[in-house]
Amino acid sequence: MKSIASAPGKVILFGEHFIVYGGKAVLCSIDKRITVESALTDSGKIEVRSSLGSISCAKDMPLSEIESTLRPIVYIAQKILSESGGQSGITINVTAEFPSGIGLGSSSACCVAAASSIVGLFSKCTKEQILELAIEAERTIFENTSGADCSVCTYGGLIEYHRDGQIVRLDFEPRFSLVIADSKMPHSTSQVVARVKKYKDENPAIFSLLRTQEERLIDDAISAMQSNDLALVGRKMSQNQKYLDQIGVSNSTLDAMLNVAYQRSYGAKITGAGDGGCIIAIVDDSNQQAVIRDLLEKGYDCFAARMDLRGVQHQIDNT
Ligand code: PMV
Repeated sequence: MKSIASAPGKVILFGEHFIVYGGKAVLCSIDKRITVESALTDSGKIEVRSSLGSISCAKDMPLSEIESTLRPIVYIAQKILSESGGQSGITINVTAEFPSGIGLGSSSACCVAAASSIVGLFSKCTKEQILELAIEAERTIFENTSGADCSVCTYGGLIEYHRDGQIVRLDFEPRFSLVIADSKMPHSTSQVVARVKKYKDENPAIFSLLRTQEERLIDDAISAMQSNDLALVGRKMSQNQKYLDQIGVSNSTLDAMLNVAYQRSYGAKITGAGDGGCIIAIVDDSNQQAVIRDLLEKGYDCFAARMDLRGVQHQIDNT
């Protein structure tokens, strides 16, 4: 028997960086998924295979000795195997429809899919239980994770994430698509966050004004998404990019990509920490292909994505 689960990646539509100092951000899951297949074995070992590497270890190997990217998966496997009280081992296979390390939530999607797949070998469980286990697992590598990425990967759709930890699911379905383009520039979220703090400390009045404007912008953007006014959503997105540019998280590569995207999309911005990673552009069926063509012609890697509404999915394969 194989237990197969998948969970979507995510983008931040609005609010990155400013949320570190209060207010809220809006996240959206995308129809690019990570799939985790697991099966019990009698090897007594935990064996993980993924595009990020492989590991084969004893069931009771200390977590601190496990290479970090695979640690959350091993954590979940150890916990569930020990709760089951059996002697078995487990094989776990991870496949991804999108790259890791570019701000699209691959780590969270992997934790959510692994939690669902591994628990699913033994019992049925709710999305709430999967989310709790996935956040616990992600904390083995990102101690301070907010849980926002895992939440949107678990439930799908749109969520509002508040600085105080509150997570609100937005239960409407805006009819936009996205074009996501990858700058191929590696970035460090913690370094970019530290740079923004320096900017804030040196420019308190400007930063405070930007933060107030960002909060207003997010409220307007949510209303625009609710009424499917894509032109307005796009304008808010491009305006959000101006604020991000002002706090110094863009760079010439991202600006060049955005300038291509602005031409035919409704609006565009970086998504996530910036200084590398991805940009997103809001499109619909009328302009999606043109935006993709323009970006590809300039040599940028990009793909189309829609909002995912399903969140984590699980099935048992008895063949
Ligand atoms: O690049 P990502 O998807 O990890 O997003 C970072 C978001 C920030 O607002 C820059 C940091 C944070 O902790 O909220």
